[in-house]
Amino acid sequence: PAPGWSIAADVVVVGSGVAGLTAALRCEAAGLDTVVVTKARLDDGSTRWAQGGVAAALGEGDTPEQHLDDTLVAGAGLCDEEAVRILVTEGPDAVRRLIETGAHFDESSEGGLELTREGGHHRRRIAHAGGDATGAEISRALVEAVRARGLRTVENALVLDLLTDAEGRTAGVTLHVMGEGQHDGVGAVHAPAVVLATGGMGQVFSATTNPSVSTGDGVALALRAGAEVSDLEFVQFHPTVLFLGADAEGQQPLVSEAVRGEGAHLVDADGVRFMVGQHELAELAPRDIVAKGITRRMQEQDAGHMFLDARHFGAEMWENRFPTILAACRAHGIDPVTTPIPVAPAAHYASGGVRTDSRGRTTVPGLYACGEVACTGVHGANRLASNSLLEGLVYAERIAADIAEVRAADGLTARVPQPVPYPETPEHPLLAPEARFAIQRIMTMGAGVLRSDTSLTEAAEQIQRLHAEARDALLENGKTAEPGVDTWEATNLLCVARALVAAARMREETRGCHWREDRPDRDDTAWRRHIVVSLNPDRT
Ligand code: SIN
Repeated sequence: PAPGWSIAADVVVVGSGVAGLTAALRCEAAGLDTVVVTKARLDDGSTRWAQGGVAAALGEGDTPEQHLDDTLVAGAGLCDEEAVRILVTEGPDAVRRLIETGAHFDESSEGGLELTREGGHHRRRIAHAGGDATGAEISRALVEAVRARGLRTVENALVLDLLTDAEGRTAGVTLHVMGEGQHDGVGAVHAPAVVLATGGMGQVFSATTNPSVSTGDGVALALRAGAEVSDLEFVQFHPTVLFLGADAEGQQPLVSEAVRGEGAHLVDADGVRFMVGQHELAELAPRDIVAKGITRRMQEQDAGHMFLDARHFGAEMWENRFPTILAACRAHGIDPVTTPIPVAPAAHYASGGVRTDSRGRTTVPGLYACGEVACTGVHGANRLASNSLLEGLVYAERIAADIAEVRAADGLTARVPQPVPYPETPEHPLLAPEARFAIQRIMTMGAGVLRSDTSLTEAAEQIQRLHAEARDALLENGKTAEPGVDTWEATNLLCVARALVAAARMREETRGCHWREDRPDRDDTAWRRHIVVSLNPDRT
C-alpha cells in the first residue's frame, strides 16, 4: 500500500538530538523549509543522557592542534585527519553558537567556562552544564529554540525507508506515526534533502547506556537504501557504568568519565589501583584501554565488576558537581560519599555509522548524516570522550551550509518518489518484537567487549537463523509480524547486528575498541583501513 498521508518540505531532519536539532535550526535560518521528525518526543534521544560534556579547545593555553593530537591517539590509526581538523578547528565557535542559542554552561569563579578532564585528554577542555547534566541542558535549549522558531515537527514518528526517484536521488522518507494526531499511520515526508540524525544502536546489546529508542534505525535505513556504512565493528564500551547485577538489561546508569577527571580512582576487589602502571594517564587513559583494564582485572578476580572510589570528594562536591550520578547511585542503594561505586563496562557509542564526506553527504545523492548515526571519520577506531556532542554540532552546521549551497546552485528540486517495496521483502522480513531480546543476548555473548573468531561465527550463525526463520515465514504465509514500532525496531536491530558482526569477523586484529582475543595485536600492515558495508550491488 502507498503511504496514507504526505507532507512536503525542502529538508526533512530525522532525529532530534544535538545533531538533528542543530541541523534543523541552521537549515531554517538559511531559509530552507524544514521538517523535523522524531521517533518519540523531541527530547527523548541519547543527547539528554550525556553527562560529561562537550570537548573543545576553549581553555587558556589549549589549541585545536592539541585536541587533534589527543583525538588521533584515541582513534588508533583510523581517524580521517582532515575530518578531525575540521572538528577541532570549527568546534570552539560551534560551542559559542550553541551558547548563543540558549545553552547555559557551568562557569568558573573567574567568569569563563569551567572545564574538566576526561579519558584521553591531556588538558581540561570539557565544557559542562548543571554539573553532570550537560546533555539535558543542550537538549532543553535546542528544543526551546526549535519551538520558538516555529519549526514543523512530527513526534512519535519512526522513520522506515528512504524514498528515491528513478535516478536514485533522495525524494524523502516513509514514516510510521503512532498515537493521536492528524498523521496517524504510515505516511511520507517528500523532500529532496534528508538529514539522518537518528543516533546510535546501543540497544543491539543487553546492557547499554543508550535509551530504548537507540535501535540503529538510521543505519538500517541507509543500508536498505544502498548507502555505504563504515567502521561498524568499533563499538565503544564505556568503562564505568553502574553495575546493577550480571543479568541487568536495557539502559544502565552512566558514571561519567568526568568523575575520574576530577580524581576518582578505579580499584579492584582488594582495593588496589590497577590502572596505575598500565598507561601514563592511569584511570584517564583512552576509553578502550580503561575498559580493557577493567575487563581483564574482572577476569583475573572472577568478579562481575570493579569499583570507582570517589569517597574523598566529600558530600558537598558530590552534590554540587555530580548531582545526576549521585541521585542515580542513591536510587540503587549506593552512596558514593561513603562507599566505592560498583562499575563495569557497557555498550555506549557506535564509532562507525553511515559514511559521509566532510559536508555530511552520504553515498546516496541528497542523503546526509550527522551525529552518532554518521561516520564522518573523526572517531576512527575509538571515539575520544566528549567529542560526540561536538561532532553533532560541527557537522550539522556543515550539512545546513551544504544544503543551502545546493539550493543556491540548482534550486533544490523536488523529486518524484518511486514506489517502495512495502512493508516487507524476503531480504528484509519483519521480525516479531521478542526477537529484540534474542538479538541482544546473541550480540552480548558473541560481539561484546571480548570477541574471537569462534564467538563471532556463533553470533553470525544465530543471527542468520533468526533472519531465515522470518524470511521463510514470509514466503510461506505472505506475512510475518504485525507492522508496528516494536517490529520495525527488532527488524532494524537485526539488520545492524548482521552488518556489525560481518565487519567484526573480517577485522582480524585488535584495534581501538575492537578487541579480538584470538588476534590480540594491532596489525598496521594489513588492517590500517576501513571496512565498508553496502547492500548496493553496484557499490560493494
Ligand atoms: C561521560 O560522561 O563519561 C561520557 C562522555 C562521552 O561519552 O563522551
